Amino acid sequence: MNFNLALPVGTTLDRFIMRKEKDFPYATGELSQLLRDIALAGKIVNREINRAGLLDVTGAFGQQNVQGEEQQKLDVIANIRFIRALRNGGEVCAIISEEEEEIIQTGNTKGKYIVAIDPLDGSSNIDVNVSIGTIFSIYRRKSETGCDGTLEDCLQNGTQQVAAGYIIYGSSTMLVYTTGNGVNGFTYEPSLGEFFLSHPDIKTPATGTVYSCNEGGVNSFPEGIKNYLNYCKENGYSGRYIGSLVADFHRNLLKGGIYIYPSTAKAPNGKLRLMYECNALAFIVEQAGGKATDGNRRIMELEPTELHQRCPLVIGSTEMVDKVEAFMKSEVAV
Ligand code: AHG
Ligand code: MN
Ligand code: MN
Repeated sequence: MNFNLALPVGTTLDRFIMRKEKDFPYATGELSQLLRDIALAGKIVNREINRAGLLDVTGAFGQQNVQGEEQQKLDVIANIRFIRALRNGGEVCAIISEEEEEIIQTGNTKGKYIVAIDPLDGSSNIDVNVSIGTIFSIYRRKSETGCDGTLEDCLQNGTQQVAAGYIIYGSSTMLVYTTGNGVNGFTYEPSLGEFFLSHPDIKTPATGTVYSCNEGGVNSFPEGIKNYLNYCKENGYSGRYIGSLVADFHRNLLKGGIYIYPSTAKAPNGKLRLMYECNALAFIVEQAGGKATDGNRRIMELEPTELHQRCPLVIGSTEMVDKVEAFMKSEVAV
């Protein structure tokens, strides 16, 4: 192996954010600080996940979240960590979280931003040492500063995002984010406690041969999706489904592919949440040259009417998403 010990370690996330500050639509430094707050909470959660098997933080917490899903201990821990970091930071007036029924007012009424967060994505994989993640969206508030964030501030559509990102706690931990000028990925160096730029200007392949879908529910999928899945099989595609959206998305982003979570009999509007999962990943994939729809409509243009709204998700390489849309339109085998 040609391993050069004198190689520079590279650009830290902090330095990168600082350099890019001028690209932000409102370059006041607050959004930069907010991104750093999220990265810090991500490091703490990463530490807790890494030690999960040793700290009695695996397994169920014993309560359900607002969506009737069983909360895992780490769901609760991650939720607390991110909320605390965002509260302490001061840039955010309100947070909406997959794990909380109502808007969380931070008390920082001067804060200009709103954060929507899935603190821990892929809960079912926590106990079995499989990649999990955090997903976040950042919006500018619409109301005047000086008071609490409003429901209207929180229910903006995806096109209003000023930044979005995810952290993947995987074989290595990465933070990937966009502020609307492309997508950049940073890998965590645990011994230095820093994220370093490792994947500059990520572009997703226009097409791929991987499809990610929980086919357990296929009998109740829309005909167009069933037909697309058959098309994938007839054309030698590979099925890859981790069951952690972040991890499936991340692989497909880098390698090309498509992730599909359609409406099912069990989940008539799909399972995934528009505000905490779909919008952020849609913003990222579009910035990387890919596409995200609900099978018919662009995810980022869906108008949210409630915090915990769900929607079907078809996301990934543009040509593959287009193909699904074509199948959905015709609803017959092509
Ligand atoms: P969360 O753990 O935040 O509730 O999200 C779980 C999501 C997503 O990560 C994953 O792709 C999907 O649920 C898996 O659902 P199925 O088990 O129905 O495939
Ligand atoms: Mn999730
Ligand atoms: Mn979650």
